[in-house]
Amino acid sequence: MEIKEMLYEGKAKQVFATENPEIVMVHYKDDATAFNGLKKGTITGKGVINNRVTNFMMQKLEGEGIPTHFVEELNDRDTLVKKVQIVPLEVIIRNISAGSFAKRFGVEEGIVFENPTIEYSYKNDDLGDPMINTAQALALKLATPAEIETIRTMAFRINDVMKAFFKEVGVDLVDFKLEFGRLTDGTIVLADEISPDTCRFWDSKTHEKLDKDRFRRDLGNVEDAYQEMMKRIFGA
Ligand code: TMP
Repeated sequence: MEIKEMLYEGKAKQVFATENPEIVMVHYKDDATAFNGLKKGTITGKGVINNRVTNFMMQKLEGEGIPTHFVEELNDRDTLVKKVQIVPLEVIIRNISAGSFAKRFGVEEGIVFENPTIEYSYKNDDLGDPMINTAQALALKLATPAEIETIRTMAFRINDVMKAFFKEVGVDLVDFKLEFGRLTDGTIVLADEISPDTCRFWDSKTHEKLDKDRFRRDLGNVEDAYQEMMKRIFGA
């Protein structure tokens, strides 16, 4: 498929048009940012890992009946996906307290919840992605009531599938962020990425952090953590 002009450049990815108006190509970069772009850096090899991990998870989820934007992995860093209109909500599911949850509610990290939580952020860099509730999202017409219900149901199902998968490879799925998009016919599909950039992964035994928190918090061995997640998922 012929790749055309770049449509959009984000912090970690670029999106290109293709000859098919319904399909775009995502290119994964090694650039890393945190705190809404305040902290910048490079994680060597991250783009390759996030591309492969995302595509693996998307295909696994498709197999479990969850519609995604995934079409075809072209190479180490490039993947064809269905063109969607992104719903401007970041959907965050948590199984264990960490990050902004621990900070906001004044609790330690590592409390295992009896039931997962769901929360939303309004995807808006100028505002710093503020937390938003579903009534507020409806007031701002970010999504319809039916779309929000679909997104919520899909997000919890995705958590069930992912939690079980990562448990098998010795990793606790602490929390993660999802984004959803609308196809031209309005169908809601899982979009964006599922990777160590967008999930918190802790080794089940040692509780070692195997995700972007190593970059956010200057913990060192950032590349090693991404490589370790590759190993866990794909084997040696
Ligand atoms: P938080 O604890 O900082 O709210 O993050 C919750 C999860 O969402 C964590 O797995 C990291 C992910 N996340 C993103 O993917 N993008 C973001 O911009 C932020 C703030 C968090």
